[in-house]
Amino acid sequence: MPYTFFDKIENNISIAGRVIKTLPSRFLFGNLQTLSNNIIPIINKNVNFKSENEIVQNGFKKNKLKCDYELIEKIQKKYNLIIEDDKKSVLTSSKKKRMIIDPLKYIPEIKLLLPFVNSELTDYYNNGFSIEQVRAWRIYSDDMYYYKKQNYIYSNIWHFDKFQVDKLNIFILLNNNVNIETGATRILDIKTTRDLIRSFKFIDTSTDKRKMDELIIKKNKINYLKGNLGDIWIFNATKCLHAASIPKPGSIRDIIQFEIYPYKFNSNLEKNNFNCKKDLYIKSISNKV
Ligand SMILES: [Fe+2]
Repeated sequence: MPYTFFDKIENNISIAGRVIKTLPSRFLFGNLQTLSNNIIPIINKNVNFKSENEIVQNGFKKNKLKCDYELIEKIQKKYNLIIEDDKKSVLTSSKKKRMIIDPLKYIPEIKLLLPFVNSELTDYYNNGFSIEQVRAWRIYSDDMYYYKKQNYIYSNIWHFDKFQVDKLNIFILLNNNVNIETGATRILDIKTTRDLIRSFKFIDTSTDKRKMDELIIKKNKINYLKGNLGDIWIFNATKCLHAASIPKPGSIRDIIQFEIYPYKFNSNLEKNNFNCKKDLYIKSISNKV
């Protein structure tokens, strides 16, 4: 369907609505989460905010430990067998990203990766943690790699994930040579993000960001979650602006992701362990769950 004048008006109204709604958090916290997503973690004291830990201060860090090589090779082999299998994985609507339907079912060894991140997570969360989602996906190249102004294909536009700000994400790299050209995720530290948000240099994910891009490139503020097979990155996608990078033609980027939340007392969850629920997003794009 063609994009009409009325669609444009409707779109601008919804952007304005989002900007107005997030004004308090923009000024108070330097992010675009709801006020409750910013305040509940403070009330609950879920995170050791006074820690010198880079995840608290900068919003991301490369894990000191790398995955055991034999284990990550075994996981990679299983991943490669199913990532292109239509019965076990699903292509997203852009056709440029493939996700494994139930990673823990097909690759149960993923749970054996927990000891490599356990100490970092127990250090970050005051009252323990719970890993509530595990996803595994591959991103493919696209000609937009060459464009200065890219359209959305798979989170490749600067954005925040919308959750409580005590949520963490973990990326476990499943390829060697993940770098600027081959699809390394881009991330800005908390301070840079706050400055861009408070100064309105970042307005909304759907608004033009070429000026912001020029500024952060000039000031060398873009960090890349790069590395090799078995490298682990821990980051806060609710406080740090981030974006996927499109791999150059001929490259792919494979990843396993953990989503981590503070442990809730009086829940029937297992503290400091996996408590994964059915993945509703994958359910929505496939009928295979
Ligand atoms: Fe994201």
